[in-house]
Amino acid sequence: MPVTRMLQQVAGQMLGRLACGCWTAGQPLRFLGTSPRQIPADANFHCASFSGTDQPRVLITGGLGQLGVGLANFLRKRFGKDNVILSDIRKPPDHIFHSGPFIYSDILDYKNLREIVVNNRVTWLFHYSALLSAVGEANVSLARAVNITGLHNILDVAAEHNLRLFVPSTIGAFGPTSPRNPTPDLCVQRPRTIYGVSKVHAELMGEYYHYRYGLDFRCLRYPGIISADSQPGGGTTDYAVQIFHDALKNGKFECNLKPSTRLPMMYIDDCLRATLEVMEAPADSLSMRTYNVNAMSFTPEDLAQEVLKHVPEFQITYNVDSVRQAIADSWPMNFDDSNARKDWGWKHDFDLPELVTTMLNFHGSDTRVAQAN
Ligand SMILES: NC(=O)c1ccc[n+]([C@@H]2O[C@H](COP(=O)([O-])OP(=O)(O)OC[C@H]3O[C@@H](n4cnc5c(N)ncnc54)[C@H](O)[C@@H]3O)[C@@H](O)[C@H]2O)c1
Repeated sequence: MPVTRMLQQVAGQMLGRLACGCWTAGQPLRFLGTSPRQIPADANFHCASFSGTDQPRVLITGGLGQLGVGLANFLRKRFGKDNVILSDIRKPPDHIFHSGPFIYSDILDYKNLREIVVNNRVTWLFHYSALLSAVGEANVSLARAVNITGLHNILDVAAEHNLRLFVPSTIGAFGPTSPRNPTPDLCVQRPRTIYGVSKVHAELMGEYYHYRYGLDFRCLRYPGIISADSQPGGGTTDYAVQIFHDALKNGKFECNLKPSTRLPMMYIDDCLRATLEVMEAPADSLSMRTYNVNAMSFTPEDLAQEVLKHVPEFQITYNVDSVRQAIADSWPMNFDDSNARKDWGWKHDFDLPELVTTMLNFHGSDTRVAQAN
């Protein structure tokens, strides 16, 4: 038979298998392309990663950033302190080290990752390590390594050990040619930052591993996340965290985005709840594996007006950072998360007024913060 015909037949068989969704135990998996790791030929990734009665054993990578510590606290309340391991490449402060299991994990070191997963019998992995948008533009090669090569390690270890895997994506996975107001789940995604490119890659690779190998991959595109007790890690929406601290400390804030820059945002409590809810959603309720989630959408001007209601002497000035502004101008203004609401019942709790009251009450002293009404 001519070689081209043979290739056509093989390709046809492959496509037939892929079209039906996933591979089964009766259809042996092959090794993962050029990856150094191999998926066992008799692997069956369709079995649940833990039985309904067991608690999951959780690993969080990149856990010392803005979101990881809050996620660990949240999950420990649900699954027990010792079932949730926080990890990072940085040294944890005392209070975090003593609050539950902490372990060193560099996602660029595959052997180290596998050892942690095996020794701790991990069943769920929340992959938070990343270089965010502004930091990524300042160090593209490191962002490429952490956000892309690191992600490959995470996918391989999750597939090999049958983990349920959560990877956060972002509004930054869209670009100037995406519809911006609102931005639906499925549309053109041509981001122009290394952060955005790496997150689109993560969405596509996770979905590919899901359909190809049955990996239980779940992904939410977070808006800008606003948290009171942790510092942001160098993203374009950082201003919306810093403003509260500066308003109460100095009565003023210098914003690095233009007053009219509208971006989707979410309070940390909603973000953590959405993350757990999508991880606990029955697989058959998920019509897709990557969802937008949203809560509110505002500009620096809107936020300043709301802060003024509580801190009457507050003043905002603008000193626009051209790199961050260009990034923000290419991102969604409003996020359409109707699929998340329909499929697994997503519903946010915090809108702008509740967000501002909560943030100011957290940072503030009694003399400066008016009670919410
Ligand atoms: N914070 C937000 O507003 C936001 C919005 C959308 C999506 N996300 C996503 O959520 C996740 C967590 O975000 P965050 O704000 O906590 O990020 P962050 O930048 O604050 O923290 C990232 C952590 O990754 C760690 N890290 C870097 N290189 C590593 C490596 N080689 N191995 C292991 N860890 C490494 C860093 O030490 C850091 O603690 C990220 O994937 C981010 O893309 C965050």
